[in-house]
Amino acid sequence: MQKITILGLGYIGLPTAITLADAGFTVTGFDTNAEVVNILNTGRIHIVEPGLADALKRSMDGGRLTFTHELRESEVFYIAVPTPFFSEMGRISADLSYVSSAAEMVGKVIREGNLVILESTVPPRTTKMLSEIIEKTSGLREGQFYMAHCPERVIPGNMLSELKNNDRIIGGRTKEAGERAKAIYERVLVGGKVRLTDDLTAEMCKLTENTFRDVNIAFANELSIICDELGIDVFNLISLANCHPRVKILNPGVGVGGHCIAVDPWFIYEQFPEEAKLIYAARLRNDAKPRYVADRVSKAVAGKKKPVVAVLGLSYKPDVDDLRESPSIELCHELMQRGLTVVACEPFVPGDVSGIANLPLEEAIDRCDFAVVTLAHTAFREKKELIASKPYYDCVGLMKH
Ligand SMILES: NC(=O)c1ccc[n+]([C@@H]2O[C@H](COP(=O)([O-])OP(=O)(O)OC[C@H]3O[C@@H](n4cnc5c(N)ncnc54)[C@H](O)[C@@H]3O)[C@@H](O)[C@H]2O)c1
Repeated sequence: MQKITILGLGYIGLPTAITLADAGFTVTGFDTNAEVVNILNTGRIHIVEPGLADALKRSMDGGRLTFTHELRESEVFYIAVPTPFFSEMGRISADLSYVSSAAEMVGKVIREGNLVILESTVPPRTTKMLSEIIEKTSGLREGQFYMAHCPERVIPGNMLSELKNNDRIIGGRTKEAGERAKAIYERVLVGGKVRLTDDLTAEMCKLTENTFRDVNIAFANELSIICDELGIDVFNLISLANCHPRVKILNPGVGVGGHCIAVDPWFIYEQFPEEAKLIYAARLRNDAKPRYVADRVSKAVAGKKKPVVAVLGLSYKPDVDDLRESPSIELCHELMQRGLTVVACEPFVPGDVSGIANLPLEEAIDRCDFAVVTLAHTAFREKKELIASKPYYDCVGLMKH
């Protein structure tokens, strides 16, 4: 199969389209956002990812990659559309409207023998549900078309390398579907291996990877609170415990953010609220960390007249500009609710963020009575002395380690 169409040209879909074109496939990118297609058609990119603009140019110049406003027939369809979550009456659920609508669109143009690969992160049994949508819309039966789930595991910032070098989990709805998907990934992968399984295991595998990290970080965050009470350094403690050959504790922080680790555990919990007690407790522990930090900071500045707090870092992890689900922003709002004046320094984002003044580091330190280090940005690492000129609380171990 040579002709591949990618639905969704965001952080996952666009690098995937480029990598497939690089591997010799004829690739068409389709997105419901007309502006995205227009930008890409001019050879520019709309997301931040190192090396992507040059790689796009090479693929387009080579004639293997084009972009369209209209979904047409293809031999293979990749679905890489968003799967956010929404909260309703205290219940958090996956929003499957984008994947469902993508499946309906595919159902309208799919032909016998075609393969559909779902790359979006989804709750258990979603691949089966999408297959049923395609059956309903197309009039075909599964077996006449093939369906697989191949969850994406790349990290923004290193996508082009990881797309070729990470192992891939391929969950075929049938053996034939898995084999067909495997043949495609094997042409793309350089260092990574293909690991074949069924669709349900593949869905759970992706969720398990991120949930494992969430639970591990929750443990580290819990330790950090206990260590604060004991007056010992949690980062030193964890590094000593990790000397044990079978212990690997992750680092605590100001919480857990981003669009994967803070979201994916809910996709398990929503279907298994009775069983997923540990997963749920970990989510609550991580979500509560900004409140804990805000309480500590407000105690530290109690008695000062109109204290100003500088929050150093607003994105969700070091050295990126991504603000999605950021616990540092949550911390700012918690501090403001306690009547404190908050300024911030987020060197990766221009201008104010969510109503918070975003200042150069020197100015933020100059204006504040107390600083909170929420991210180990390289720019902060190089200015430890400046930061230490004011009293501070270090959520990430930047100052001493
Ligand atoms: N970004 C990451 O680092 C990452 C890593 C692993 C997995 N994932 C998962 O990959 C999936 C995609 O994430 P993303 O970050 O690329 O999202 P994104 O928001 O960057 O891009 C998604 C694109 O899909 C388009 N779209 C929506 N509905 C469509 C449809 N029916 N047809 C065609 N296009 C449509 C949107 O306009 C958008 O351009 C999600 O399930 C996400 O959880 C993301």
